[in-house]
Amino acid sequence: MDCMGKFAVVHNGIIENYRELKDSLIERGHKFVSETDTEVVSHLIEEEYRGDTCRALLNAVKKLRGSYALAIISQDEPDKVFAARMESPMVLGIGESQLFLASDVTAFLKYTRKAIFLEDGDVAVLSRDGIDLMDFEGKKVFRDVKAIDWDIEAAEKAGYEHFMLKEIHEQPQSLKAAIAGRLDEFKGTVTLKEVSLTEDEMRNIDRIVIIACGTSYHAGMMGRYVMEELVGLPVSVEIGSEFRYSHARLDDKTLIIAISQSGETADTLAAVKEAVRRGVHVIAVTNVVGSTLSREATDTVYMMSGPEIGVAATKTFTAQVVVMYMLAIMLGCARNTISADKASKVIRALKSLPQKAQQVLELDADIREVASRFRDSASFFLVGRHLNYPVALEGALKIKEISYVMSEGFAAGELKHGPLALLANGTPVIAIATDSELYDKVVSNIREVKARDATVIAIASESNKTIDQVSDIVIRVPDACEYISPIMSSIVLQLFAYYIALGRGCPIDRPRNLAKSVTVE
Ligand code: AGP
Repeated sequence: MDCMGKFAVVHNGIIENYRELKDSLIERGHKFVSETDTEVVSHLIEEEYRGDTCRALLNAVKKLRGSYALAIISQDEPDKVFAARMESPMVLGIGESQLFLASDVTAFLKYTRKAIFLEDGDVAVLSRDGIDLMDFEGKKVFRDVKAIDWDIEAAEKAGYEHFMLKEIHEQPQSLKAAIAGRLDEFKGTVTLKEVSLTEDEMRNIDRIVIIACGTSYHAGMMGRYVMEELVGLPVSVEIGSEFRYSHARLDDKTLIIAISQSGETADTLAAVKEAVRRGVHVIAVTNVVGSTLSREATDTVYMMSGPEIGVAATKTFTAQVVVMYMLAIMLGCARNTISADKASKVIRALKSLPQKAQQVLELDADIREVASRFRDSASFFLVGRHLNYPVALEGALKIKEISYVMSEGFAAGELKHGPLALLANGTPVIAIATDSELYDKVVSNIREVKARDATVIAIASESNKTIDQVSDIVIRVPDACEYISPIMSSIVLQLFAYYIALGRGCPIDRPRNLAKSVTVE
């Protein structure tokens, strides 16, 4: 609410420039009662108000940067709801004698199937007389009323056959949400205001321990590579169920980062509780606000992915990796272990990621076609090096989890130490061979595999003209730096796993024997 309690605001999204706005509003005498970015909206409307709430809203939105779906009520016009949309979903429902406003049709599908999807830059006023739609200049706009023919379950899936596929396709938005308001490319800085460590405390840390399970563990492995490079500290990644029984040294110079999508994984929680008891600073990385992990940890950085229903983690994995990169830059800047140039380079790469993810999703049909050729394979090998090693592990986990096919990920350099013995004529080996410092080494490893007559499916960079000489099939992802291409490759593998499982008729969103969050030891 504003200072007078006249306007109440509901907001989905992130106001990126809220800091500047808040500071100048405070200078002009506004009193804030929360730490939220949302509160600036009500104070801005208050400031612009001359007896016309819609006009005040139109003036206020022009000052906002970021993503927002806003709903506002005013004491002076109690029979109206005002709304505005920018890069955050907002949909109006038209019932018999009701109007609805929500971020998703599922919220009102029980009452009406008629909906208007607002577009970026739309403002709506809902009243007893109906809906007035306009652009940010106040000029009337027209939007079609759509008849929604989905049942509730299909609507929740936005027309996708499974939640997993929907969630894979949501990654351009979830990645955008993960970085929104947190990156400054020009200064080369990351702001994670949830982290309460002072710069001095960050400088004092002498080791980082990452704790997680399953997919989150793979995100932790990626975080480890990046932190070792950018933060210059020893970093270990521990499986929650192992760490809780270890005798690891923990002290006030240790920083623990606990990653858990659900924030309810018993093994991760047990390790965190023990660490907190021993006085260690724990940063939780989770997607679920109010989860047990967020309550136990010292600080919590949210992934902002929105709900993930499919048991197989997809959009939350890529968001976890992005959060780990941001933590690495933040710690590196505080400890002076990362140059401003390097920080800006990684930040630029992170900012390009939502768009690159979109380009990868456009490969959906090609990946489906490749997967259809391997639907009946009895096993898969996945190989990669450095950041692409955890990507291989994660891809293998996705395949086994939802299609029940034996699949294993390996560090490509490890093949000759044993796993090569398993290769037979035609065994599918997925090699992640995007551009990186280790590219030539990966190609050598692919040659070892080819020499055993395995079938190589390479994931390579778009501009790579030579990989076809050592591979049977190539899936090309957009060229990108070595920090970002592993995230793109993991999206390829999510789609590959999905289509293998689909082809085999598996219950993709609810695989046998598995639960979305593992709340028992
Ligand atoms: C991922 O697809 C799995 N569902 C599983 O490995 C999961 O990542 C693991 O159980 C950890 O869950 P959390 O991130 O909620 O802690």
